[in-house]
Amino acid sequence: MVSSVCIFSQLVDVLLVLAFFSHITWAVSGSSPCKQTDVGVIRPHSVTITEFGTVGDGVTLNTKAFQNAIFYLNSFADKGGAKLFVPAGRWLTGSFNLISHLTLWLDKDALSLFHTSDDWPLVDPVPSYGRGRELPGARHQSLIYGRNLTDVIITGDNGTIDGQGSVWWNWFRSKTLNYTRPHLVELMNSTGVVISNLTFLNSPFWNIHPVYCSRVTVQNVTIMAPLDSPNTDGVDPDSSDDVCIEDCYISTGDDLISIKSGWDEYGISFARPSTNIVIRRIIGHNRNGSGIAIGSEMSGGVSEIYAEDIFLFNSSTAIKIKTARGRGGYVRNIYISNVTLPGVDTAIIFNGSFSQHPDEFYDPNALPVIERITFKDVTGDSIKVAGLLNGIEGDSFRHVCLLNITLSVTTESPWNCSNVQGYSDLVSPKTCEPLKESINPKYYSDCYLLPVICRVQVIKTKVLGCFRGK
Ligand SMILES: *[C@@H]1O[C@H](CO)[C@@H](O)[C@H](O)[C@H]1NC(C)=O
Ligand SMILES: *[C@@H]1O[C@H](CO)[C@@H](O)[C@H](O)[C@H]1NC(C)=O
Ligand SMILES: *[C@@H]1O[C@H](CO)[C@@H](O)[C@H](O)[C@H]1NC(C)=O
Ligand SMILES: *[C@@H]1O[C@H](CO)[C@@H](O)[C@H](O)[C@H]1NC(C)=O
Ligand SMILES: *[C@@H]1O[C@H](CO)[C@@H](O)[C@H](O)[C@H]1NC(C)=O
Ligand SMILES: *[C@@H]1O[C@H](CO)[C@@H](O)[C@H](O)[C@H]1NC(C)=O
Ligand SMILES: *[C@@H]1O[C@H](CO)[C@@H](O)[C@H](O)[C@H]1NC(C)=O
Ligand SMILES: *[C@@H]1O[C@H](CO)[C@@H](O)[C@H](O)[C@H]1NC(C)=O
Ligand SMILES: *[C@@H]1O[C@H](CO)[C@@H](O)[C@H](O)[C@H]1NC(C)=O
Ligand SMILES: *[C@@H]1O[C@H](CO)[C@@H](O)[C@H](O)[C@H]1NC(C)=O
Ligand SMILES: *[C@@H]1O[C@H](CO)[C@@H](O)[C@H](O)[C@H]1NC(C)=O
Ligand SMILES: *[C@@H]1O[C@H](CO)[C@@H](O)[C@H](O)[C@H]1NC(C)=O
Repeated sequence: MVSSVCIFSQLVDVLLVLAFFSHITWAVSGSSPCKQTDVGVIRPHSVTITEFGTVGDGVTLNTKAFQNAIFYLNSFADKGGAKLFVPAGRWLTGSFNLISHLTLWLDKDALSLFHTSDDWPLVDPVPSYGRGRELPGARHQSLIYGRNLTDVIITGDNGTIDGQGSVWWNWFRSKTLNYTRPHLVELMNSTGVVISNLTFLNSPFWNIHPVYCSRVTVQNVTIMAPLDSPNTDGVDPDSSDDVCIEDCYISTGDDLISIKSGWDEYGISFARPSTNIVIRRIIGHNRNGSGIAIGSEMSGGVSEIYAEDIFLFNSSTAIKIKTARGRGGYVRNIYISNVTLPGVDTAIIFNGSFSQHPDEFYDPNALPVIERITFKDVTGDSIKVAGLLNGIEGDSFRHVCLLNITLSVTTESPWNCSNVQGYSDLVSPKTCEPLKESINPKYYSDCYLLPVICRVQVIKTKVLGCFRGK
């Protein structure tokens, strides 16, 4: 018999389960919503965008009105904060910056359209990337941008933010872009961010990009882009901590959720990890990319990732960890459970040779450490490949633990593994040789089974450690 005790800080709401097990006991999922920011906060000052001379005809450009409205509301930031109300209408606009203590509210049938004429501002590259993700140098600023902010809420009654991305996708395809494409929303170096109850369509590039942020909630949003649109990732938490993404429907041309933390030597020196990220109750669909990805930019480290209740249909890949020599950093303590995959080509991919580098100055000896990755309760139909698990030669991905995975596979060799090490129980079809050993008690500390024992209910939680004893 083994018992387990968790130590955690006092500001938390952790359900502590003392698990007594001779083999493995399975925890029951929690279902409380992300609770880290009060979305009900009342802003004492509110204006409607039409007070700033907007025309909601889908043709008139309203960028100045958005900028003026926010400039005006800035005087209330230290007086309890403010709300910018966007009513029904088709509001064509260019990029604008948010401020602290702001609620941007898009009402029912409010449609904010990213203009397609040609004056898009540029911003500096993200320091942990050293350059634009697609092209060297600066990048186009996102439609909705914020930096160094606290307490920002972007919400509404299912209003829509439409990036009108096809012009950008065409430039990408014809290789005529001059700078990296813009996101729909980017918040940099900000704390206390909520993005909820909205729909995001046709992003030029990634949809929602929190970078160097803490306490971020993305809840109950719909994100859609054509299945063949290039790099239209859904939500990409990047060098960010205490992030909760839940109750979302995401269908795009690339990864639905991708956790990142900087690129090669730039990410290594910036050294800001992504950690404490909860992802749950996601329904997703794509034909290119994966449901949940980690990397390939992970040089600042990625850890303590909990994903559960993931439903991905008719898609290419469910879970993917991408890295390469030169990345450095780590991916550790990853726990993914209750994943349902009707009609998914490949359930799990580890790719240790995702070798796009920012420039030639990366250090090929900077090897990523990939360890303690647990998959539990995964089912799927019409799967072509269960796992394509390829680590890095001389730098095996280790302590990969597969528990209770049942996939109905349509091909002859469902698993293909190299440079990985781990354990498994109740896996069908039978897993590959390097993961075949059963998870017996002497391996409990290798496997990342922490959430089986301590359920992390709220993201504010800081689980400081978990100790096992007799
Ligand atoms: C954010 O903070 C950084 C570092 O202090 C500063 O360089 C930058 O200008 C600030 N940006 C904004 C938009 O406030
Ligand atoms: C999700 O958003 C819709 C409107 O977009 C709203 O009607 C519904 O109540 C929201 N659900 C939750 C759980 O917040
Ligand atoms: C919000 O609007 C989108 C797009 O119109 C729609 O697909 C989605 O079902 C709506 N969500 C809710 C909760 O009503
Ligand atoms: C890129 O720059 C060239 C030369 O300035 C310009 O003609 C072209 O329109 C630009 N392309 C885009 C997509 O902005
Ligand atoms: C983030 O904000 C802090 C405090 O304002 C500042 O010191 C730091 O330089 C900023 N970092 C970035 C990358 O903007
Ligand atoms: C979403 O909308 C629902 C219904 O109006 C509301 O109860 C809920 O608090 C909202 N959630 C967030 C996170 O904004
Ligand atoms: C998948 O993405 C790659 C790279 O962006 C692209 O070359 C390919 O055409 C895409 N495939 C589909 C089916 O969209
Ligand atoms: C597993 O996830 C599905 C959604 O994909 C959900 O309906 C189901 O309740 C979850 N099961 C458990 C045990 O939480
Ligand atoms: C997935 O694709 C199959 C075959 O094309 C189709 O019958 C099924 O309805 C799709 N599933 C969903 C959930 O859309
Ligand atoms: C890994 O990713 C790279 C870059 O996308 C690709 O060329 C390679 O085929 C992938 N390897 C495997 C085994 O999937
Ligand atoms: C295995 O996973 C399935 C769902 O994928 C679940 O219904 C079943 O209870 C799990 N078995 C164990 C032993 O936990
Ligand atoms: C595994 O994949 C590699 C590369 O994709 C291939 O060369 C090899 O034959 C595969 N091995 C098995 C056992 O299927």
